[in-house]
Amino acid sequence: MIDSAVGEKMIQNELGLSFVVLFLLILSVDGADITVGPTSVTVPIYETASFTCEGTGNELNWLVHSSALTESVKQQRSITITDPGGGPGNLSSVLTITGLPVNDGLQIGCQIISHPPLKQVFSDTSTLTIRGISPVEDIQWSIDDQLLSWSPPSFYSDDIISGGIAITTYNVLVNGISYINTTDTSVWLNTTGLSCTNVTTVSITASIEQYESQGREYNLNINGSYTISILNYTLMYNETSGFFFIDFTNLVNSSAQSCNITIYGNLYPDEGVTQTSYHTSTDGLIPYTMTGLKQCKTYIAQVIVSNPFFGIVDQDNVTIRKFTFINCFKFAYFILSYI
Ligand SMILES: *[C@@H]1O[C@H](CO)[C@@H](O)[C@H](O)[C@H]1NC(C)=O
Ligand SMILES: *[C@@H]1O[C@H](CO)[C@@H](O)[C@H](O)[C@H]1NC(C)=O
Ligand SMILES: *[C@@H]1O[C@H](CO)[C@@H](O)[C@H](O)[C@H]1NC(C)=O
Ligand SMILES: *[C@@H]1O[C@H](CO)[C@@H](O)[C@H](O)[C@H]1NC(C)=O
Ligand SMILES: *[C@@H]1O[C@H](CO)[C@@H](O)[C@H](O)[C@H]1NC(C)=O
Ligand SMILES: *[C@@H]1O[C@H](CO)[C@@H](O)[C@H](O)[C@H]1NC(C)=O
Ligand SMILES: *[C@@H]1O[C@H](CO)[C@@H](O)[C@H](O)[C@H]1NC(C)=O
Ligand SMILES: *[C@@H]1O[C@H](CO)[C@@H](O)[C@H](O)[C@H]1NC(C)=O
Ligand SMILES: *[C@@H]1O[C@H](CO)[C@@H](O)[C@H](O)[C@H]1NC(C)=O
Ligand SMILES: *[C@@H]1O[C@H](CO)[C@@H](O)[C@H](O)[C@H]1NC(C)=O
Repeated sequence: MIDSAVGEKMIQNELGLSFVVLFLLILSVDGADITVGPTSVTVPIYETASFTCEGTGNELNWLVHSSALTESVKQQRSITITDPGGGPGNLSSVLTITGLPVNDGLQIGCQIISHPPLKQVFSDTSTLTIRGISPVEDIQWSIDDQLLSWSPPSFYSDDIISGGIAITTYNVLVNGISYINTTDTSVWLNTTGLSCTNVTTVSITASIEQYESQGREYNLNINGSYTISILNYTLMYNETSGFFFIDFTNLVNSSAQSCNITIYGNLYPDEGVTQTSYHTSTDGLIPYTMTGLKQCKTYIAQVIVSNPFFGIVDQDNVTIRKFTFINCFKFAYFILSYI
């Protein structure tokens, strides 16, 4: 059927950069003819490559690994093609493909069919070659031990492997700033105070030889759940100053234990009560003192735990009304007798 002996091979040597071997199989059979066939391409990973097929006939089909291109293969391999136009006559199509790792070594060809009578011609097969490495995978982070870990790239182009022993280096960036370069696949972040910040994106870039992968980003979910509950408080009356002291004992329960927190209070009503902010980076029982509470009054003390990045993380209110009957009675008596 096919007069395949009638072919023409052209070899082009472009500027000595590389040999671009263009095989044009031109079949001068009735109608079906390929004038431009796809040529092999090498692209950096994730960049796109284009293949062209032109000729005359009724129908132009692309072939991937010698099989007709299906919709599912198009999706899997990220392929788009331009409409070749309707035959009979000139047909032309461009196949565009993304340099996904899975497409490395992909063989691409085209076929033009004419009818009747049924004739078909095939282009030579061209190859897509990918260069570079894929990003790291499976980034994991645990706020408890603050270990950031990941898996190495799954794709290394074959020119790297053939180069012998080459070690992958990982550059870990935190909020865009390089934190460490390591050849390990994990790093402790517990020295960074990171767990105390709200905005934290890490990005890991892998490098080997002349290649650098795309950075893979990961958002650290550092929404440490602080809780505070006031376990106990005590009141003391200072005879000399006439003021009460309140001594809170707070439990700050935090999942991000190394975070610096500040404890401070508001008092309602506020009548010039003095209080000292308390800074801590540890959990536990924390005394907090307010001085200047007047006797025989009811106050609401609002205790606030805050983190410089998260702001107020929790707060609780305590109603202070532990005023002894005797004191208030004396106080009232004093006022009454004074009047
Ligand atoms: C087909 O392409 C050839 C070469 O480019 C051109 O000379 C010819 O006019 C085209 N025919 C049609 C029908 O477009
Ligand atoms: C890691 O290596 C990159 C590239 O060489 C460099 O820009 C960066 O400053 C290094 N980071 C550290 C923490 O040394
Ligand atoms: C970080 O955590 C690891 C594992 O818990 C521990 O071995 C290491 O000493 C910690 N480093 C610092 C500076 O706390
Ligand atoms: C932390 O998470 C809680 C509930 O999931 C949310 O209401 C709060 O806004 C978050 N805080 C920050 C700083 O993202
Ligand atoms: C509160 O503190 C007082 C004095 O320290 C103590 O006697 C009391 O048992 C405490 N109450 C609780 C519930 O811990
Ligand atoms: C009571 O108040 C006076 C005057 O403010 C002060 O000098 C004294 O130290 C206080 N006593 C105690 C036990 O805190
Ligand atoms: C502190 O928080 C942890 C986990 O969030 C919880 O299991 C524990 O019971 C809390 N402790 C107190 C005293 O509330
Ligand atoms: C904790 O934060 C407070 C307020 O931002 C600051 O004054 C204090 O120095 C910090 N303490 C530590 C140990 O970082
Ligand atoms: C992080 O917290 C700071 C201080 O509260 C705030 O100004 C900033 O907008 C927060 N960023 C995000 C992304 O929530
Ligand atoms: C504590 O009291 C203040 C002032 O009345 C109020 O804004 C706040 O919501 C209260 N907090 C709680 C936990 O009840």
